[in-house]
Amino acid sequence: MKRMFLIFVMVLVMMVMYTVSTSAASNSMGKRHHVENIAHRGASGHAPENTMAAFHKAFWMKADYIEVDVQMSKDGELVIIHDTTLDRTTDGSGLVSEHTLEEMKQLDAGSWFSNEYAGEKIPTLEEVLDEFRGKIGILIELKSPELYPGIEEKVAEALKDRNMDKPRNNKIIIQSFNHDSVIKTKSLLPRVPLGVLAGMSWQDVTDEELEEFATYADYFNPNQNILNPELVERIHDKKLKIWPYTVREQEQADRLLKLGVDGIITDFPEYVYHHPRPRR
Ligand code: G3P
Ligand code: CA
Repeated sequence: MKRMFLIFVMVLVMMVMYTVSTSAASNSMGKRHHVENIAHRGASGHAPENTMAAFHKAFWMKADYIEVDVQMSKDGELVIIHDTTLDRTTDGSGLVSEHTLEEMKQLDAGSWFSNEYAGEKIPTLEEVLDEFRGKIGILIELKSPELYPGIEEKVAEALKDRNMDKPRNNKIIIQSFNHDSVIKTKSLLPRVPLGVLAGMSWQDVTDEELEEFATYADYFNPNQNILNPELVERIHDKKLKIWPYTVREQEQADRLLKLGVDGIITDFPEYVYHHPRPRR
């Protein structure tokens, strides 16, 4: 009897440890599944967004993916930066589209965050692909692609050049708020999983619209605030995965885990895992 009780306690302890040390959620069948941990613009709560420092931090923290915002320079190079202007995250100013890569490489993309990161550069997509392929997944957001005609082709070329357009060996996903751009990407990269980003204006998304998304996308990635149990179920009914953005508080991560999402896009990967799990 005493032995049975001991075994029961051990099993209980192991179950609790599993719960707090991994990101898992229950689906509608009550079955647990891994929830992908996506470091938004890298681990941008800890290091300057969209820099190699933030991406390395995310890798070290064992995130499953880094999210990167891709735009195009004046001379047609793919650069990783969120805003369409340089002002907020660098010591430069003006539009990204009006600067060459060489000009942007002179800028400091780290000091605005902290002196510790002075000298961080704006990376190119190619640099990120070369540095992180095979190490961590990469969620590529085509940021304001309507400003950059031909950006879909350039991204497709960068992936194909590296044989990264086959999902089997590479964790690559492309997403955008511009759904026409996602459709175009589908024709250029038919084997790469795609996501539609959905801001607050999609809170009343209909089943018909979700069905339409499911014809070309694999992910419906909404602003976390539009999600509720009913919408989660309707999205899953259309066989779309759900990776909401952007978690900046532990409570937000906890709510989404309970809702049964498939991934969480966060500035703080530790909120999804509860405890950072350093790579060795
Ligand atoms: O990955 C989703 C999220 O990045 C979308 O919003 O403005 O941070 O690019 P934003
Ligand atoms: Ca983004």
